[in-house]
Amino acid sequence: MRTTTARAYPNIALVKYWGKRDEARILPAAGSLSMTLDAFETTTTVVPAPGRATDILELDGEVADEEATRRITAFLDHVRALAGSEQRVIVRSTNSVPTGAGLASSASGFAALATAAAAAFDLDLDDRALSRLARLGSGSACRSTVPGVAVWHAGDDETSFAEPVEAPDMRMVVVTVDPGRKAISSRTAMRLTAATSPFYDAWVTSTEQSLADMVEACEDKDFTRIGEITESHGLRMHALIQSTMPPIRFLRPQSIAIYDAVEKLRETGIEAYSTADAGPNVVVLVRPGDAEAVATALNGYGQIRIVGPGPGAQLLPEGSEVPAATEERP
Ligand code: PMV
Repeated sequence: MRTTTARAYPNIALVKYWGKRDEARILPAAGSLSMTLDAFETTTTVVPAPGRATDILELDGEVADEEATRRITAFLDHVRALAGSEQRVIVRSTNSVPTGAGLASSASGFAALATAAAAAFDLDLDDRALSRLARLGSGSACRSTVPGVAVWHAGDDETSFAEPVEAPDMRMVVVTVDPGRKAISSRTAMRLTAATSPFYDAWVTSTEQSLADMVEACEDKDFTRIGEITESHGLRMHALIQSTMPPIRFLRPQSIAIYDAVEKLRETGIEAYSTADAGPNVVVLVRPGDAEAVATALNGYGQIRIVGPGPGAQLLPEGSEVPAATEERP
């Protein structure tokens, strides 16, 4: 074993993943498609800890709580099973924006951890196997091992991985309305949706159709169609989530105001399309040449950042280690 460091970036889905067919293996009920970003990265170092009985997680320079550590251990158990090892490790992870701040997502976290841990345990994984491994940490993480636009096939344990898709060059204008941690995790909210929404089956079937249409639109480099499917599919996800019992609402008045502003922009001839994940922040999909104008138009609605397609998860050279937390665990 050796100490390794990896970096990965979050992704924003244009066809959303919401609902699992298999909770343990994190197999999605339907496929999805996203763009891996070139900002908001996570950097993670995995250090072998011989003699220790438990793993340690250090997040942004602080030893993490038991719940977060348990989730990391459950993931590392998959890595240990693949490697035939019992070795415990120290995981040191930093996000370029505060954890839980809308975009420091579990996707970049588990994509970075999968990449660093696979190398630390000397696993020789190809792109598909790495994506499948990241999926076991957090579903959307399997798309962050892939650069640019990625499709995640629903599949079974063997075939549920993400891979790159040809797509036009695009930008996203990220409007952060609230950087706070969300009140309910995607995992819990998804479970509640599948168990209680009367629209769930229709969501699953229609998502497969949206995905097929989206892949075609990407291959045709048809930005208008990509944007139309993106805005519609994201809103369908929020409608579905709101239809659970008890209801869950992620979009706020400010989020809706951004959707309105983007619609107005379209009326003036600027093609822009809104989407939002499980939170109030809105991401606006645009052509590269329109990014500045859209960012200017949305100034005042929240914190604005223009992002583009980014790299897949990658190992960093020796010397890139995340520094140890200053506080020692008792
Ligand atoms: O991978 P998770 O459990 O963080 O779920 C992500 C769900 C959404 O971000 C809302 C949609 C998606 O496809 O990324």
